[in-house]
Formats: sequence, structure tokens, C-alpha cells
Amino acid sequence: MAAAAACALLAGVSTSCTGAPAPARGPVTDLLGGRDWAHFAGAEQTRSGVRVTRLDRRVTRQDGSGGRPNPPVNLRGPHLVFRGGLRIEARLSRTDGTDAYLHLYGEVPVVYDEWRRERRGVRIGVAGGRVRFDRWDGDSDRPALTRSFGGGLGDEVRLAVEVRGDRLVLEADGHVVGTVPGREVFGHGRIWFGADAGGGGRGWTLGALRAMPLGGGRLSVRDAPALRVPRSTDALRDLAAGRERPLRVGTAVAAGPLLTDDAYRRTAGEEFSMLTPENDFKAQFVQPRRGVFAFAEGDTLVDFARANGMLVHAHTLVWFEALPSWMRAAMTREDREHVMTEHIRVVAGHFRGKVAEWDVVNEPMSDEDEDYTNGNRGVRPHLWFEAMGERYIDIAFRTAREADPHAVLYLNEYGVEEDGPRWDALYALLTRLKERGVPIDGVGFQNHEYAAADRTDPEAFRRKLRALAGLGLKARVSEMDVLVGEGEEDAQAREFAAKLAVCEEEPNCTSFSTWGFTDRYGSTADLRNYPPAPGNALPWDSAYEAKPAYRALRDALDR
Ligand code: XIL
Repeated sequence: MAAAAACALLAGVSTSCTGAPAPARGPVTDLLGGRDWAHFAGAEQTRSGVRVTRLDRRVTRQDGSGGRPNPPVNLRGPHLVFRGGLRIEARLSRTDGTDAYLHLYGEVPVVYDEWRRERRGVRIGVAGGRVRFDRWDGDSDRPALTRSFGGGLGDEVRLAVEVRGDRLVLEADGHVVGTVPGREVFGHGRIWFGADAGGGGRGWTLGALRAMPLGGGRLSVRDAPALRVPRSTDALRDLAAGRERPLRVGTAVAAGPLLTDDAYRRTAGEEFSMLTPENDFKAQFVQPRRGVFAFAEGDTLVDFARANGMLVHAHTLVWFEALPSWMRAAMTREDREHVMTEHIRVVAGHFRGKVAEWDVVNEPMSDEDEDYTNGNRGVRPHLWFEAMGERYIDIAFRTAREADPHAVLYLNEYGVEEDGPRWDALYALLTRLKERGVPIDGVGFQNHEYAAADRTDPEAFRRKLRALAGLGLKARVSEMDVLVGEGEEDAQAREFAAKLAVCEEEPNCTSFSTWGFTDRYGSTADLRNYPPAPGNALPWDSAYEAKPAYRALRDALDR
């Protein structure tokens, strides 16, 4: 108690509670005015600052349980590059008791559907009337250090954080409230910003945000990189465009690395002519709370595609995974149907005219044997099916067609490249949909090969494409990746090239997409360990070195 009071007093005479004199402050940089906060999920730029809405964005486990917070990062806004000491000041205004948090990310998190890899960073904010501090060290999802300081803070609080050597000094309303070990949290000399709102309220306003170097340190502010990247004339996309029947080559892309990793951005824009949002269009990201939509990351992917002459294959409107928990909660059948159609209307409406295609329904076929004999006709009995029966598919496609009349509408599925009951049931389903006049245009074959047993005969795949042509449907390779054992890079290359060759040869196959391109962010990473061990399923390794698979794709396009 006495120590805290002494700190506060000393702070008033410009001495810190560490006992050392406060370091000299360099020039102040405003991080709000003239900087981009318009592409920050949930935020709104108002006259009094950036209004941060409570999004409650979370990533849930595959079975829908859990719910790790997934607060947005202002990826398109300013970030700091600094050496030595640094001071960041912020003014947080709360009106309805919302807890207000500012995130300072030394490295931006890597976000998956059911898992957010929290790297180094801190969160500082006002919860109740106290300053709350958390520090992540990049070796666990959980904070390595959590502290609360002070008390009695009002609705408007001026917070400051000083980076001084290996310590962080925290201030509230001009008084030092605590000093915490900073470890190497900003060891890369970079800080990205994020904000979040908790507690019961609707949001808060970030009224000021400034930074200045301390004690002779260096500081510069960078805006997000230009989305347009240099083009070559000899990349996969050029080879594909130059074919007698031009083809699109696509890949799954995530907003985080796109804006923070130059090699990722360059490769995505240079090599591919189509992109699929890997996770950023999924329900738990775009409608985290009922009726609260947040499209910033999705819009960024659309902008990137447009800047680089790529088409967007949007993914996905109706699925049973990556759902916010409110969407899974118990509700009446009518309400469930309303939630589905409203989601489609708002999301497909938002991207209307900006995306070329949609995966309207993702993974509708069941994995359980019993669903092939119990009258479900192989259709997965998930929450949408439970409420509407198979008719959910009809409704979803009709609603999507209405919301975006020019988008090409796909059903996307895994494990149907080969013969078997799952394919038979899908074919029967597609036949029924066509008979009922459902506006479906095509089918995506994911082509995930996670194990040797997933490898499928290219000729069996060809028969599927031809069967679809018979129904008047297009097809695409939508999510290909091939996880292999050590020393199996050539086998991997052959798998990719064989599927691409079939797609080139069958006139109804419109595009060939891999599920990501570099192992650095591949979705086959082993998430059981921290940090996760990267997979090896993609054409570029973790250091962006092209593998035989890349050369095989080129050769297949160059025949
Ligand atoms: C995957 C993403 O790549 C991961 O980041 C996420 O954690 C889980 O989902 N089928 C699909 C894709 O339709 O949406 C999935 O994407 C991979 C399987």
C-alpha cells in the first residue's frame, strides 16, 4: 500500500517506482489520426476515437466445445518498429461498464478454426475499476503472467506502458501502478495493436493512442504493406492462364500472415489467380454474436484478390464446424432455419459482386455407416439437418442465389474422390437437388490426403467429374494438400500433378486449389504440441523453398 502510494507520488515528479529517474521522452507519434482503423474488426471510427464493439470472437473446438477468445488484431493499421525504450499512451472511455483491453502484439497470433496460436504479446486494460495485465510468451496459449493493479478507476482512464529494458512499467491516470518483468515479449522490436471489449457492456472508445521513444531509443511507425505485389510472367497462374482452356489455380489464404509476412503475401499474389479464405469467412469469425457481423479480415482478402487480379472462391456459408457457440445453442426449428438463412443473406449479401463463387454447403455427407441405412441417405445429421432435414441444402442454395445472383454456387466435400457409398450417396443427393431445381452449379472435391490411405486413383476421380458433367455440374479441386512421410516428396509431387492433370483434361473442372501453399502456416500442423510442429503437406516448405510438388504442378500446367 505504502509502496504504491510512493510510486504514485514519485511518478508525479517524473521519477518511476523502480527508483531510477524516468528516461527522456522523444517525439510523440499519433497512432489514430491518419492511420487505418477502418479495417479493424468490430471497430468504428467516430469523432471521439475508435469505437470498439464487444465481439466476443472465439475459436471453438471441432465438437463445438471450448471457446478460446479470438480478439481481432488491427492488421491493416499502424505497427511500431523500435529499438530501446518506448512509451505507449492510450485513453480508454467506457460508458456502460464494459471492460476495455488494448493488446500489444510482439508477433501476431496464428489463427485456426479451433485453435489460436498466441505468440508473444501483452494485454493491458481496465476491468472493473482495476488495471489488468496479461503477458503471453509464445510457449503456451495461456498467459505466462497475469496481474491486477490499483483500483477505483473511472469511466475514462489514461493508460501508459513503458518498455524499459526487460521491464514494463504500467501507469493509470498519470501514476505508476506497477512494474512487471517484460521478458523478451517485444524482442523483435515490433508491436501490432488490437483491442477487445469484455464484461457485460456493448463497447468502449479508444480516444487516443500515441507512442514515443524513451531514453534515446528509436521508433518508427509503419502502415500495412501495399496489397498489390509484383507479378512475374512465369508463375503457376501464368502457365494456367496460357492454356488452351485457361484454368484458375488457387490456394487458401489467411489474413494474419498476408499482412505480416512479406514472403507469404508475395507468393500468394504472384503464383495464384484465385484464393479461398482459409478461415476468415467462417461463421465464428463473421458473426461472433447473434446479429453482430465483422468482415474486416474477409474484406482484406477480397481487397488483396482484387489488387492482384485474383478471383475469390468464398468459403463457407453452411457448415457444422467453426460455428459460434450461440449458433449451436438450443433453439426452435423455425429459429434455426431463420439463423441459417439470415446468415447467408447478410454474409453473401455483404460480398455480393466481390466474390466469384461460394461454397454454400460444406461437407454435407456423413462419416457414420448408420446414416447410410437409417433413412438419412448419407446426409450428415447435424444441427441444420435436424431442423430442416435434407431440405436445408435446398434452402441454403436458394437463399445464396438470391443474395448474390452472379456467384457460382458450390457444394464442397471431402473423401468423395474415390468410389464407394459416400460418393454414391452424394451423387444420389445431387440428382435429387437437380430434380428439385435447386440452384447448385458445381461440386468441390477437397482432395485432402492426410494419410497414405487417402490417396485416390486419378482415374476414379476423373469418373466423378464426368458423372457431374452428366448432371450439368461444374467441378473443382478445392483444398488439396498431401501429408507425406520423410523422403516422400516425389510421391507428394506425383499426387498433386495427377489431380491437376485430370482437372485440366476434364472440361467441367474449373479450378485447382491447394489448401495453403507454405508449410509455415499449413493446416496439417500438429497442434498437440506448443509451438505446433509444422506439417509438410504443401508445395512450399516453411522457409518458402519450393518442393518437387511445385515443379510438378508447373510441369503439369506446361504440357
Ligand atoms: C481448416 C483450416 O485450414 C484450419 O486452419 C482450421 O483450423 C480447420 O479448418 N475442410 C474445409 C476447410 O472445408 O474449411 C478446413 O480448413 C479443412 C477441411
